Amino acid sequence: MAMFAKAVRTRALLRSATLDMIGAARRGLATAAAGVERARAPAAHREPGGPLRVRTVDLRSDTVTKPGAAMRRAMAEAHVGDDVFGEDPTVNELQKRAADLFGMEAALFVPSGTMSNLIAVMVHCSERGDEMIVGDLAHLHVYEQGGSAQLAGVHATTVATRSDGTFDLHELEDKIRHGYPDPHYPRSRLVCVENTHNILGGRVLPLSFLQELRALADRYGLAVHMDGARLMNAAVNLGVSPPVILQHCHTVSVCLSKGLGAPVGTMLAGPKDFVQKAVRARKALGGGLRQSGILAAAGMLALTDMVDRLKEDHRRARTFAQALKQCDPPMYEVDMAAVETNILRFRLSSPCLSPAEFCVRAEAVCEDEARVLGQGVRVLMFPHVGGTIRAVWHLGISDDDNQAAAEKLHFLAQQLTKQRVRPN
Ligand SMILES: Cc1ncc(COP(=O)(O)O)c(C=O)c1O
Repeated sequence: MAMFAKAVRTRALLRSATLDMIGAARRGLATAAAGVERARAPAAHREPGGPLRVRTVDLRSDTVTKPGAAMRRAMAEAHVGDDVFGEDPTVNELQKRAADLFGMEAALFVPSGTMSNLIAVMVHCSERGDEMIVGDLAHLHVYEQGGSAQLAGVHATTVATRSDGTFDLHELEDKIRHGYPDPHYPRSRLVCVENTHNILGGRVLPLSFLQELRALADRYGLAVHMDGARLMNAAVNLGVSPPVILQHCHTVSVCLSKGLGAPVGTMLAGPKDFVQKAVRARKALGGGLRQSGILAAAGMLALTDMVDRLKEDHRRARTFAQALKQCDPPMYEVDMAAVETNILRFRLSSPCLSPAEFCVRAEAVCEDEARVLGQGVRVLMFPHVGGTIRAVWHLGISDDDNQAAAEKLHFLAQQLTKQRVRPN
């Protein structure tokens, strides 16, 4: 475990680096993957005179979903007002609904998860010299451009994230500063956790961990903020209502725009006085929207109609993971115990291709594939932290898509074994 966590940390990549890798891999594969083409296949795989049948299975992220007809209708018909004046009835209704659902006093509609986390940090750490403690693989720390330092002026101390998304509470306790008001030290004010954990593959934080964390935080007067971008996935996995998880947190940020399928929006929830301050911070950051009921209407539908279907995403992720595990010839390393929600991380068992090269290969369609599978299948995935490949399930992926994607990866395993592509 310790070695794994170290490997994950030392090889942590920012998305920009990942994109560079994809670019490099694309160039490198232009020759290595001879015969692989995007749009050519034998006539047998086309309607006479028609185009090649190609299915795209987009497993890059659960942020790629598009609103369906019911959601678009709700948006078009939304009653709206000026939300900066507090007069948008649909936003007000959504905020009330979210607060009730999360068991919090109040909630605020915010444009994005990134802004919502930043506002939480700004409100909890409002005095110059305040500090937050955060896992070193938290989205907030890795993927939000250091906004808490850059924009809020808040110092971060990290604790090592373990492979299940938790961290060692003794380490956390060691990191708490006790020197205030000694002018040498920042003042520890906030601990941030992430649930489910994105980089670690949708891991669900155990309730026992959250309970112990909260007890520790209470002992030292620290606030606990949960980046619950995928909180509802965690709740579905545990089979509990959100307040059972959130009883251990002071505040939470929940994205409507991921597995729940809304085009925009995040709910930031907590005590009333926290949310009042959050309204001010949101305006300062340019997140005060006007007739945002159009967006909140999608959010309402996300919270009411889209939670139940998350279990379908979880089931498909497991089915796919199982299919990779059973691949013949073996090519994929999967830890089934780590597949808890809608995110899967897997490795290539032989280093014939880098993860970035593999992703290019999975996206490309070749003639053989169309002949063997009866269609071309583009599987979109990202090379990920720690030499893994990440795939994410969402409402745009059907059982047929899932099966086609698994077949494509079996096909690639056979093809790569035959070709014995050399590492570069
Ligand atoms: C765990 C987590 N937190 C926060 C965010 C940021 O959300 P947004 O893209 O809406 O800014 C993401 C986005 O993927 C995420 O996965």
